[in-house]
Amino acid sequence: MPTNPPLSSAETIKLFDRYVVPNYNRFPVSLARGEGSYVWDSEGNRYLDLFCGWGCNLLGHCPAPVVEAVRAQLGTLLHVPNTWFTEVQGRWAEALSARSFGGQAFFCNSGTEANEAAIKLARLHGSAKKRYKIITFEGGFHGRTLGSTTATAQPKYHEGLGPLMAGFVYAPFGDLEAVAKLIDGETIAILIEPIQGEGGVRIPPAGFLEGLRKLADDHDLLLIFDEVQTGCGRTGEWFGYQTVGVTPDVMTLSKAICGGIAGGAMLTTPEIAKSLRPGMHACTFGGNAVAAVAGIATLDMIERENLLQRAKKLGDLFRARLDTLKQECDLIRDVRVRGVMIGAELSIDGAPAVRACLEQKLLINCTHGTVIRLLPAMTLTDEQAHEGLDILGAVLKKMAQSV
Ligand SMILES: Cc1ncc(COP(=O)(O)O)c(C=O)c1O
Repeated sequence: MPTNPPLSSAETIKLFDRYVVPNYNRFPVSLARGEGSYVWDSEGNRYLDLFCGWGCNLLGHCPAPVVEAVRAQLGTLLHVPNTWFTEVQGRWAEALSARSFGGQAFFCNSGTEANEAAIKLARLHGSAKKRYKIITFEGGFHGRTLGSTTATAQPKYHEGLGPLMAGFVYAPFGDLEAVAKLIDGETIAILIEPIQGEGGVRIPPAGFLEGLRKLADDHDLLLIFDEVQTGCGRTGEWFGYQTVGVTPDVMTLSKAICGGIAGGAMLTTPEIAKSLRPGMHACTFGGNAVAAVAGIATLDMIERENLLQRAKKLGDLFRARLDTLKQECDLIRDVRVRGVMIGAELSIDGAPAVRACLEQKLLINCTHGTVIRLLPAMTLTDEQAHEGLDILGAVLKKMAQSV
């Protein structure tokens, strides 16, 4: 339990130095509390968060309907094994199905687990015909377990981990002809993020996802969309695939799915779902009652508060401001926005901008070396958006002067 008064950031960092595996690069700040788009550190400093929970806090920190739903569930039922039925898991699956392509859900706790489920489903689906190869895309990101790491076609994530899993084939992002050439008699699936997140908020060229759908149909492949980052309203539609009208056979979700509580899901059609036969896959905590009520409350809140529309409006605001900033500051090469998934590609390393913003109590991210990535909450106000963009703009203009 936290102490009272709480430890300072420096004291907490000492605890980590001694007891926590140092596999993350962390900012030297201990966060203690969050509300909406603000977080506070142990010293009481307030930060405006435009990278809410690495995309998990799409509704802001501690959204009241999710907190209330979880509180109500806590004294009733936390977790029972998946050898039993629970109404809440069934209702959660129903709610996701109704907003997507009418399929069925397998529940887990994270994005990488959702992708592992999709990979195993694809292999089982192809096993009778000895088809197992999965095509993924350069610059993509699918998670940190070994299967998802192998699916992630970025050599920097593979260093020292070999031998990796067999059966993954990498294609250039956006190149349909190259994908077509990689398909052979052993291919079973194509796995792609409808917008690459970690890869730099890269939006596929027009017609690319449609072309993949056609290739999948022509060659009897499963089209799997990793919507871990684009899903649950981030793009201004429930799911990223709905922004282009290309429906996948399998979709993976996590991050925002439970409004800040751990959760994940893989959705597929009832026919394809049959390939994941009983005994072939499982997740002990998957679809637990707390995650389920948080997941339902998340979807309800988005609907009740018309937040898909809000995400689109915020996207327009960010695009307009960043386009203007691009005119004024030649460090910005490109601006890419879909709802509250926002990237500004710089001509230089973006890490110093992240540090400079942190000094001014603004939380942002840089990915792929040069792309400033913002994943703000859908509940961000216009004033907060302008406040953050004013700071970011000033930081980038100052950096431009010293280049
Ligand atoms: C598109 C995508 N897939 C999968 C993952 C992995 O999710 P997790 O860290 O929950 O395993 C991420 C995480 O950033 C992601 O962005």
